[in-house]
Amino acid sequence: MNVLFIGDIVGNVGRSALKQVLPALRDKYNPHIIIVNGENAAAGRGITRTIAREFFEWGVHGITMGNHTWDNKEIFEWIDDEPRIVRPANFSSEAPGQGMSIIQANGKKLAIINLQGRVFLPPIDCPFRMADDLIDEAEQHTKAILVDFHAEATSEKIAMGWYLDGRASIVLGTHTHVQTNDDTILPGGTAYLTDVGMVGSREGVLGMERNAVIHKFLTGMPVRFVVDEGKWHLHGLSLQIDDATGKATKLTKIRLTEDDWLLM
Ligand code: FE2
Repeated sequence: MNVLFIGDIVGNVGRSALKQVLPALRDKYNPHIIIVNGENAAAGRGITRTIAREFFEWGVHGITMGNHTWDNKEIFEWIDDEPRIVRPANFSSEAPGQGMSIIQANGKKLAIINLQGRVFLPPIDCPFRMADDLIDEAEQHTKAILVDFHAEATSEKIAMGWYLDGRASIVLGTHTHVQTNDDTILPGGTAYLTDVGMVGSREGVLGMERNAVIHKFLTGMPVRFVVDEGKWHLHGLSLQIDDATGKATKLTKIRLTEDDWLLM
């Protein structure tokens, strides 16, 4: 099976880039299943039901989230009714929503698991032990398992890759918005990339308007960040999984700028 995963989509710039480019990515990589990280989709903070529905209309099959899951409070009202969205599984057991979902499309089945790191992020249950439980559960449904580890520290992400090697089809990182260059397939057959990157303005800071961010670094004062409206870049990956074994057979990073796209 072929899976396309697109990194954190930031605000209106990221959403419109995704809409423009997705048909071409579909033609090029022939994905059976398309997953995106949507935790910054609504002006950089969370996601709305309308935005989630738009993503599904454009051909996305599943959405992963992260530390901004609850920024848009309206999500409390609908996340339990939307099985195609996963939020970090190691949130409190009292939290609404789910941390794992089985996505079915084009005759294929992919388990998607969302976990959040604990280094430089708020206290949360152990993502490693939670991964053990969820992978056992996912294996009852399919051998193809995607883990989106939404985390800050490269060490924690690399450790998770090794920890799940041979048990997940891919461990990929989101959250830093910077695509790393360490794509690999680990010895046990798990594809790994420390961070997939983002979709949004590349003229800001991680998709947000840069002057506000610089002001905050200079003064330490509270600043309201807004989505930057500059030219976009889009980062993602294409993954091939052996359906019989669940092992990854090919991992390709995707990296596109608005300027490249206009020339295509
Ligand atoms: Fe994040």
